[in-house]
Amino acid sequence: MDEKLEQVEKILKKYKQEQLLRCYDKLIEAKKEELLDQILKIDFDHMQKLYEETKGKKDFKNFDIEPLPYVDKEKLEKEEKEKYQKDGTEIIKSGRYAVVTMAGGQGTRLGHDGPKGTFELEVNPKRPLFTLLSETIREAIEKYDAVIPWYIMTSKENNSQTQEFFKRHNYFEMGEENVKFFIQNEMPMIDTTGKILVDDKGMVKQAADGHGGIFEAMRKEGILEDMRSRGIEWIFIAGVDNVLAKMVDPILTGLAINRKCLAAGKSVVKNNPKEKVGVFCKKDNKPSVIEYTEITDEMAEAIDENGELLYGESHILCNLFNIKAVEEISINKLPYHSAFKKAKYIDENGVIVVPQEPNAYKFEAFIFDAFERLNDMAIMRVKREEEFAPVKNAEGVDSPETAKNLYLDFIKNKK
Ligand code: UD1
Repeated sequence: MDEKLEQVEKILKKYKQEQLLRCYDKLIEAKKEELLDQILKIDFDHMQKLYEETKGKKDFKNFDIEPLPYVDKEKLEKEEKEKYQKDGTEIIKSGRYAVVTMAGGQGTRLGHDGPKGTFELEVNPKRPLFTLLSETIREAIEKYDAVIPWYIMTSKENNSQTQEFFKRHNYFEMGEENVKFFIQNEMPMIDTTGKILVDDKGMVKQAADGHGGIFEAMRKEGILEDMRSRGIEWIFIAGVDNVLAKMVDPILTGLAINRKCLAAGKSVVKNNPKEKVGVFCKKDNKPSVIEYTEITDEMAEAIDENGELLYGESHILCNLFNIKAVEEISINKLPYHSAFKKAKYIDENGVIVVPQEPNAYKFEAFIFDAFERLNDMAIMRVKREEEFAPVKNAEGVDSPETAKNLYLDFIKNKK
């Protein structure tokens, strides 16, 4: 232990991060050990680089940005559609298709205390988001008479609560062996001077590293291995907050296969230039997404020759990957984006500080940065009213109220 402590002290001195041992003496033995291990896992050179990057702003002018071609599902030729349907159905029926739900988030923005997936939508009868998603998968399982395993990405914060929830719901009758969980990674948070914060328990202040960490987490947590052993070839990855996400999609799968693409994504037409969605584009000739926080007004408002938004194909976080692509992507980390957030911490006087204003940087990787690692990607425009009803904010746009109405309309029209 003393040796480990000495090793840690040396590292911290080198990187001027000695504050991380601020509460060490007050911790119980087991926690002391855990803290030292936490510190030994930190890549301080990388943290330093990320800190430097917080000072500059991303500039898309440095890249060659163009719209990314897409197909409109509604406008597919009959034979084409039938071919995609047939090829995709074959994959699903033969058990080569899996669904992954990214559910690392909490329901904080919705005023819900617990994993976001356990937030209840007031449909009749009212049901949690996880239940609504499970209904979509079970419908497909029956339709295709196939096993479709469901993988849930949780975070350190909500993993046990999520697993308990699924257990209580008897894994939605899908069989415990077909529902698997894996925890996403975390990254330390730093203050405006580049110092890593100490959390209110005296440990390293960490936060979920964004859904882009999914590929690495799938590899490290044995999920890719599990998929391989089941013969999975295509993996649909979506967020937990879109109650209309159509996660088992033969046409999208068939499109990817026929276009010889290792990934495919669904888009809906952007409602207006200011809508808070990322949009698909080509960046230096590679498929990509420009996030709503990063797009310029000029690009957001540009119009094409048909009078539609030039960058109008919204990324709805419903993407399909071939397992080969996931394996490849999982080897190297995706870039991190920083976000300035409020973070509770222990200061140099040992006092817990609860900031009222943002005080620290959180680092997140985005799943769509993986698209740039691919040569091409098939994009399919789908109908918003059939596939996109996100629950993001407590009120107003993309709220439980709007999602409920979209969901109920969808069910009514389906009948
Ligand atoms: C996201 C997309 C945006 C897209 C929009 C569609 C990002 C950065 N942007 O925006 O391009 O147009 O959805 O609705 O994602 N999650 C985790 N772990 C994390 C972070 C998020 O599992 O560390 C999950 C959340 O539980 C949620 C999903 O990822 O299911 C989306 O995350 P969120 O932060 O809500 O993204 P948005 O800003 O809404």
